[in-house]
Amino acid sequence: MNPEVRSAFAAYLEQRRRLGEPDVVLHGLDRRQALANVAQVPRRIVSADSPAPAGSAADLAQVVGDLDHGQLRDAALACTRCRLSDGRQHVVFADGNPEGRVMVVGEAPGAREDATGVPFVGQAGRLLDLMLAAVGLSRGESVYICNVLKCRPPGNRDPLPDEIGSCAPLLKRQIEVVAPEVLVGVGSFAARWLVGENRPLGKLRGEVHSYQGVPLVVTYHPAALLRNPGLSRLAWADLQLLCRVIDGANDAA
Ligand code: URA
Repeated sequence: MNPEVRSAFAAYLEQRRRLGEPDVVLHGLDRRQALANVAQVPRRIVSADSPAPAGSAADLAQVVGDLDHGQLRDAALACTRCRLSDGRQHVVFADGNPEGRVMVVGEAPGAREDATGVPFVGQAGRLLDLMLAAVGLSRGESVYICNVLKCRPPGNRDPLPDEIGSCAPLLKRQIEVVAPEVLVGVGSFAARWLVGENRPLGKLRGEVHSYQGVPLVVTYHPAALLRNPGLSRLAWADLQLLCRVIDGANDAA
């Protein structure tokens, strides 16, 4: 085996060990079969075919803990750790600039996002783009956008706690590799997860929080603003707060 293949295979075996998967018996595998195993490494990292074993979020955290952005994306695209993988058309990993200064975290893909694989492309997404543009931000340049869940909950129902738990290591690592200067949580699921508190969104917004030392602003989900335009005034105040936080990061730079 050449050294590159040997090291890929060693990494694969180590990942299996960390995931608690049974030993691989190589006895009897010919070279072609062994290489086929190596070729499947990215899928196998997170695609335990059976239901996720207890403690799997911690296991996944270990597995994704040193992946770069591209590897993390591959791991997410191959993920079958929760029931949401059954009905999805696409994993919706992220859009925008992975080197963006601002990272927006939403809730979960909707129908349009599931069909396209791109977050926030429906009506709510268009409003989000307008909100960002109002403060001089765009996903093409300065913003990276993703969701707490990478797969669409059927019928756009709320994410379930175990689904959030399964997906959380991906988002945690995503935040680490993007390393934004400012985080923005839109909607109560993202806001609560990022802030780490269960208070209603109305009680969390209006102040600057911190996620692992990164300044964090939370605001209403654009879908909520479409349903209830009366909230727009508060969302505008949140955007102004975001501007002040970005200005503060500029001053510190
Ligand atoms: N709502 C979200 O929270 N995320 C999307 O990607 C689309 C709609």
